[in-house]
Amino acid sequence: MPPARHSHRGKFITFEGLDGSGKSTQINRLAATLAQWKIPAAITREPGGTATGEKIRRLLLDSANAELSPLAELALMFASRAQHIREVIEPALAEGRIVLCDRFTDSTEAYQGGGRKLGSASVLALHRILCGDLQPDLTILMDSDIAASVERARRRNRSGKSGVDENRFEQENRAFFSRVRHAYHALAARDADRVVVVNARGTPAQTHRKIVELVRRKLNLPHRAT
Ligand code: TYD
Repeated sequence: MPPARHSHRGKFITFEGLDGSGKSTQINRLAATLAQWKIPAAITREPGGTATGEKIRRLLLDSANAELSPLAELALMFASRAQHIREVIEPALAEGRIVLCDRFTDSTEAYQGGGRKLGSASVLALHRILCGDLQPDLTILMDSDIAASVERARRRNRSGKSGVDENRFEQENRAFFSRVRHAYHALAARDADRVVVVNARGTPAQTHRKIVELVRRKLNLPHRAT
């Protein structure tokens, strides 16, 4: 039997920002708050999110693959994403679920388009061809300072918590991350209806409160104590 289709499509919420800007902490906190409200959310991430995508992720983030060309990197990001949309994101939205996704095409526009200097046009064209131009309902761009974020990401990866090498992007220099940050702000200005810039320099609790308020409004939920 085909999966039951809900009359209400779910909402697709993406989180963006520099490495170490605290996205995963905030995604987990938001999911916990939504669960308290009896709104279950699916958490996923890119690159990755599917079995094939996680293999592509390993390839992309392993610092042993230093020779990977910018275009190959771009193609792999989209390969992971195309699979992710088909296998995870679209089915969850069709079932009426809320999908919280750690990074999506804005990351490609910022890192490959800006950081690697491939430009936005090719990223947006590939997004149309390979992703059916799927747009998030809401994108939370966690705005943080380059030095603090990257240092945090490097520390985390050095501590080897995940047990795999995910350092390839953290090896990049300040100029790279400054281009990434600039590209993020440019796309946020262009897509101001979708992308909300959240100052992520405060405590995790402060940032969480701001995010909950944004999501509450987006989902048309009544005000509740958090
Ligand atoms: P992520 O695990 O979210 O890193 P962090 O937790 O440090 O923010 O993402 C892995 C890396 O992949 C990150 O350095 C950004 C990079 N990336 C791109 O360059 N392009 C993309 O399209 C995506 C999704 C990620």
